[in-house]
Amino acid sequence: QRLSLSYFSHSRSGALVYSLTTELEKINQAFDVTAFLFTRVSLLVVYVTSMFLLSWQLSIASLMLFSLMSVGLSNLVKRVRETSFDVSKAGSNFTSVAVEFINGIRTVKAFASQEFERRRFYNASENVANITIKSASFGYAIEPIGESVATTILIGMIIVAFTIFVPNGQMQAASLLTFLFVLFRLIPIIRLINNARGRLGEFTGPMNNIKELLRTDNKPYLQNGNVQFSGLQRAIEFASVDFGYDPSNLVLHDITLTINKGETTALVGASGSGKTTLADLIPRFYDPTAGKIIIDGIDIQEFEINSVRRKLAIVSQDTFIFNTSVRNNIAYGSEQADDVAIREAAKLANALDFILDLSEGFDTQLGDRGVRLSGGQRQRLAIARALLRAPEILILDEATSALDSVSERLIQESLEKLAVGRTVITIAHRLSTISKADKVVVLEQGRIVEQGKYQELLEKRGKLWKYHKMQHEVGQTN
Ligand SMILES: Nc1ncnc2c1ncn2[C@@H]1O[C@H](COP(=O)(O)OP(=O)(O)O)[C@@H](O)[C@H]1O
Ligand SMILES: [Mg+2]
Repeated sequence: QRLSLSYFSHSRSGALVYSLTTELEKINQAFDVTAFLFTRVSLLVVYVTSMFLLSWQLSIASLMLFSLMSVGLSNLVKRVRETSFDVSKAGSNFTSVAVEFINGIRTVKAFASQEFERRRFYNASENVANITIKSASFGYAIEPIGESVATTILIGMIIVAFTIFVPNGQMQAASLLTFLFVLFRLIPIIRLINNARGRLGEFTGPMNNIKELLRTDNKPYLQNGNVQFSGLQRAIEFASVDFGYDPSNLVLHDITLTINKGETTALVGASGSGKTTLADLIPRFYDPTAGKIIIDGIDIQEFEINSVRRKLAIVSQDTFIFNTSVRNNIAYGSEQADDVAIREAAKLANALDFILDLSEGFDTQLGDRGVRLSGGQRQRLAIARALLRAPEILILDEATSALDSVSERLIQESLEKLAVGRTVITIAHRLSTISKADKVVVLEQGRIVEQGKYQELLEKRGKLWKYHKMQHEVGQTN
């Protein structure tokens, strides 16, 4: 089973991080507390047995009194448990705010919204503090309350025993003293057990969140097939595919499209028309809401998902650069690649020059998310990464959009050389880059409004012609 990407686009990343770090830590503690509880309970059993051997009447009386006390304390424990849910919520919210702030620091600074973010951060952290204090004060109230009640019970018992049992000769003073001694030893153990219960109450919130995280029935899983994909033979077909990130709000309508092996298929359309979404269905980031995607006559859902993904590479608008060396970033997903191949891929992607200019060349560490590179450099690394995989199916989603027109043309040439014999799905803003495509598909608001060869579509003077004319005019005024 594979978790669908849509789970991650719905969950806040900070909340996930919180669950994976802080809450797991708390659960770790919960295991310690449980172990502690276990040993103390064993001790309790031994003590209680010896008390019964000494005097069953007194034992029953004290057990009843202590049970009553324990019931009273249970209410407090319940309160702690309830507030622990709020602690989890506040903590998760706090981490979300912090993660967003750190990831969005450039936007925050550029929009001079530090003050706004600072307030958001203070509110979130104040919230955590308040709720934690509330939860802890309930937790800590259990101890002194338990202790004073227990002491009262004990004193009561001593008085009763010495005024009734000893004068009646039902019990010898020595046995009574032994009994009381055991009871004295018992009190701190009961206290410890109660404390541990209180602490376990604090862990209920985190426990629940982690359970929620591990649940599989409420998350969008992709059913994995078992047919091994060994390579494209004929075509990838979309048969009346509908898709919506939220099934009630479709983003793609009735897409019927054939992507032939060895051809370049270009997707054209205004931003928001659904090009990226359409392309994301091929690696099965999402499954269609209705209709089918068929590869060589077999429903894509019957393939083992990784055997399909291994045959394709994607270069998209937002490329992810890992915090490691340039070499590892290019070799990502093709770890067995040698230096010669890596260098060749970098060269084809027009990245070799800038890599060699870096202080340590291919060994330069790139820092979190590649912050030390320009957008165009990141994109060229992503192209090199895709080329190194020598994929059968190559998806280029505005892969050259962050480049200046000179590098774009250079890379375009390498990509065209590379496209020979491969199946390429390309999405490009600049129409000039797709004029050689075997098939152009024009999307408007999630529907295919035109498809065919570039020249033929131009001659039809339809939608593509309008886009073409628009870009041409803009080009001239520039
Ligand atoms: N992860 C997502 N969750 C919900 N809606 C999305 C998501 N990604 C894109 N959309 C919506 O789907 C539509 C098509 O987006 P997209 O495929 O990215 O268009 P394009 O690539 O043509 O610019 C847009 O209306 C966009 O708001
Ligand atoms: Mg897009």
